[in-house]
Amino acid sequence: MKQKSSSLADRLEAALGVVVASICQEDGLAEAMNYSLLAGGKRLRPRMLLAAAAMLGASEEQAMPFALALEMIHTYSLIHDDLPAMDNDTLRRGRPTSHVVFGEAEAILAGDALLNGAFELMSRACLEADSHNREGCLRAMGAIAEAAGGRGMIRGQWLDIAATNHAITRQQLETLHLNKTGALFCAALQAGAYLAGANDDALERLTRYGRAFGMVFQMTDDMLDVSGDPARLGKSVGKDAQEHKCTYVTLLGLETTKRLAAEACAQAKAELEPFSGPEKQWLCELADSLLNRDH
Ligand code: IPE
Ligand code: IPE
Ligand code: MG
Ligand code: MG
Ligand code: MG
Repeated sequence: MKQKSSSLADRLEAALGVVVASICQEDGLAEAMNYSLLAGGKRLRPRMLLAAAAMLGASEEQAMPFALALEMIHTYSLIHDDLPAMDNDTLRRGRPTSHVVFGEAEAILAGDALLNGAFELMSRACLEADSHNREGCLRAMGAIAEAAGGRGMIRGQWLDIAATNHAITRQQLETLHLNKTGALFCAALQAGAYLAGANDDALERLTRYGRAFGMVFQMTDDMLDVSGDPARLGKSVGKDAQEHKCTYVTLLGLETTKRLAAEACAQAKAELEPFSGPEKQWLCELADSLLNRDH
């Protein structure tokens, strides 16, 4: 990773380290929130938001609250995804899952507090923005809200549950993946573009990059559930088969999934063609890195 990205990654990590204290003063609850938030995820979504914002000319200071909020929403989605009523997982980010450590009710509440705290941060950032940046901030918050909710990630999780123990078509699986995983990646790019006041062409290209990236990401997640190493992944493997999930691997097999992932990766990169600079390079390399990822 280049010097600039690694120091940006450090600044993001430092900001994540103090954010919960600014939205929660209840010690036990804050501990449960930080337990999951600071367990060392890959931070892809916030880093992509910061990259898109920088590539299109928004400042890091302006973008950081939205990056933090997105990672908080993603972390809450993982806490809830792991609950016994959902995927019933005991390992996440290399640690026992939240409900194993704190109890089921407490894990639900830690997730709820991260979700609502994310909106508190973003609304604060909207209020503090200069008048010429305020609309971009509101649009970024709107894109994240839509992607996190019933027209995005939650819709995908709903479809995932509905498809458990049922065969679904490839088209239905694509809709499921685009929503449960693609939506937050799209929102990362869109929020960055809105914060920078980007034009419609840039917004549409980054949206298509985010969709394709999300598809590759969930295809490789499904493959890693079959062939990954839990020590590298930091989460259990074999869960999709155990929970009777419908995935790209169960529907089309490993080889076809690999080929489709490579095709979607090429589509994602093609969308970045008009952009330039180190962030563009980073986004291209990130898409490529998905094809061989082991965590
Ligand atoms: C896991 O996301 C959930 C999926 C969408 C498959 P990540 O693999 O980005 O998880 P962390 O943030 O690195 O833990
Ligand atoms: C969940 O997909 C995506 C979310 C919205 C959290 P998975 O259930 O496949 O994610 P993992 O494999 O548990 O990380
Ligand atoms: Mg799941
Ligand atoms: Mg899961
Ligand atoms: Mg999975």
